[in-house]
Amino acid sequence: MSVSSEKKLHGRRKSDGQDISLDLAKPVSIGILGLGTVGCGTVNVLARNAEEIARRAGRRIEIMQASARDLNKKRPCPTHGIKLVQDPWDVVRNPDIEVIVELIGGTDPARALIREAIAQRKHVVTANKALIATHGNEIFAAAQKRGVMVAFEAAVAGGIPIIKAVREGLTGNRIEWLAGIINGTGNFILTEMREKGRDFDDVLAEAQRLGYAEADPTFDIEGIDAAHKLTILAAIAFGIPLQFDKAYVEGISRITREDVMYAEELGYCIKHLGIARRVDGGVELRVHPTLIPNRRIIANVDGVMNAVLVKGDAVGPTLFYGAGAGADPTASAVVADLVDVVRALTTDPNNRVPHLAFQPDALSDLPILPMEQVETSYYLRMRADDRPGVLADVTRILGDLGISIEAILQKEPHEDESVVPIIILTHRIKEEYMNAAIAQIETLDVIAGSVARIRLEHLRRDWI
Ligand code: HSE
Repeated sequence: MSVSSEKKLHGRRKSDGQDISLDLAKPVSIGILGLGTVGCGTVNVLARNAEEIARRAGRRIEIMQASARDLNKKRPCPTHGIKLVQDPWDVVRNPDIEVIVELIGGTDPARALIREAIAQRKHVVTANKALIATHGNEIFAAAQKRGVMVAFEAAVAGGIPIIKAVREGLTGNRIEWLAGIINGTGNFILTEMREKGRDFDDVLAEAQRLGYAEADPTFDIEGIDAAHKLTILAAIAFGIPLQFDKAYVEGISRITREDVMYAEELGYCIKHLGIARRVDGGVELRVHPTLIPNRRIIANVDGVMNAVLVKGDAVGPTLFYGAGAGADPTASAVVADLVDVVRALTTDPNNRVPHLAFQPDALSDLPILPMEQVETSYYLRMRADDRPGVLADVTRILGDLGISIEAILQKEPHEDESVVPIIILTHRIKEEYMNAAIAQIETLDVIAGSVARIRLEHLRRDWI
């Protein structure tokens, strides 16, 4: 489909006043792989904003061909004028297409399709975080060799231009840390549970209906999707290769309404955070539910919205906020990449913004720290017999391991129960000591069942 309109764009003027009208005769032909939520969003945004986009890019962007599994499906986007095919390889091998937009998701066949597009010297725009996080090193190396671009703004935090911001806007900084709510589905679930007391499964079903959730929603709930995005952010923030397999990943499925309530009582809110932090000896790369003080702006990022806090040594803390999923917001990022690619079509491949922000031969080998070496504060919840000496036993174990207590809360026993909930907040300590403490506490006769542990971060501006 041609997204161009018959109306002629305003020309630009050279310094001598001569009109150099945009070359409407030569639109850039693109092919889209996948017409799902984001694919249709991209078709819609390209059609709706065709004029503005062409004025920005300098050329019109025309969707020549698109692939979709079911050609007869009713779609919420206009497809007249687009050659629809079932086989994505037809699109990738179409010699008239200059840019491939990969919106299929997953590893197979997306990886092979992108590799083929690169081999054919086509530029690629993708929203595929799983693929970039797990195979990005190899894909970027191939693209570098062929002198083509692989743009992936839509892979992280939906519509928020966070890749552009970290890679280019903050390029003068030494990035110290970043922390983000980078899974819309998970944030939507936690928000609805907290505000409306809704059931986990019911909210998840709604997120699936709205097109927020991944094809396999355990990716959202168990933190894998957030870890893909964090892996990408850490690579461009610190100039390290993509290392998804070294990320610590914990989801939200074990968070109870009780924990949400106790956290509130103590002045905190539970958010599912991705944290990447440069520390002595390496980089922390971790995704887990986290208590954060209610007064932080990011604690008020609710529903499907995402937010990423980035601390640079020069700029200080910065906060980027916006819709983290959904058709139009993600399409906003896809189209921004398309415009970047179109503008750079004629540039020297050696002088483009490097895929991972740092020159490929200047990446660092800073190690990713194992979780046992990471230092955080903790929220602990346990059920204990209501009798003298119990608290003393627990605090002795913590004290012996050098774990300092910040607050303790003992609640009324639940009806018909002889055990009382005890909540403890600790100061910062290495995870290996906390693991040892929890193991010892769980062996006490006076403690019923296991100890629930949620990490806690204050996200202070002077956190380095
Ligand atoms: N499933 C993802 C989310 C979609 O909920 O954030 C955007 O990457």
